[in-house]
Amino acid sequence: MNDPRPLGIFDSGIGGLTVLAELRRRFPGEHFIYLGDTARLPYGTKSPETVARYALAAGRFLLARQIKLLVVACNTASALALGALRAALPVPVVGVVEPGARAAAAATRGRVGVIGTESTIASSAYVRAVEAHCQGVRVLTRACPLFVPLAEEGWFDHPVTRQVADIYLTDLAAAGIDTLILGCTHYPLLRHAIAAAVGPDVTLIDSAAAVAEEVDGELSRGRLGGDGRGRLELLVTDAASRFARIASFILGDPLPAPLALVDL
Ligand code: DGL
Repeated sequence: MNDPRPLGIFDSGIGGLTVLAELRRRFPGEHFIYLGDTARLPYGTKSPETVARYALAAGRFLLARQIKLLVVACNTASALALGALRAALPVPVVGVVEPGARAAAAATRGRVGVIGTESTIASSAYVRAVEAHCQGVRVLTRACPLFVPLAEEGWFDHPVTRQVADIYLTDLAAAGIDTLILGCTHYPLLRHAIAAAVGPDVTLIDSAAAVAEEVDGELSRGRLGGDGRGRLELLVTDAASRFARIASFILGDPLPAPLALVDL
């Protein structure tokens, strides 16, 4: 396998960097292009039609950069636009909902919580996906819209974040969930505050590792493995210096690649 084309990965902001970090660890010889659509952030409060339009614009932009595979590192876009992306793009498209649901179904003893943006939770995509993998499971959901701005602000374990987490998650914890899906790629950044709110007996599921598994399968199935020269391009549609400040907490300081401003 010696396909030097890049893997494209996108999110509305910094959240998808949690998936990118895992993919770079797992596939150090691949070329990644990360697109943070910061001009349109947040996706999670938008209508399904608007999210699909944004996701298609991001997917087509990356396709024009000759990607061999697309990772939709945004739960909102995965929940609302995966079908449209797969229909429109002639490359494999990997979303984050299905891998996360599979990991939760494997971990649970019967009661799963799902947290995500308003649009992801309203879509019921996780409820359907977890139920499809696990007969008789009970799935409880909660939209946590303030988590995305807190993560974008870099307030990963701030007292305010802990308080917001307590308010959002007390009911889920009291309902006896044993597993909690972090159904938004921004949420692993708030892992400590979320874990403190639900307690040590709840297993947190972050789909990054399960997504890497699925990418691995696609690369071998399509004989798409890279040429061993790991590279990274970081692109955003707005507010590059703000993105760089927070991204360096996740990818390291200085950033492993320069940040370029692009227009979709
Ligand atoms: N990180 C995105 C997700 O996984 C959404 C953040 C947003 O609302 O734009 O859903």
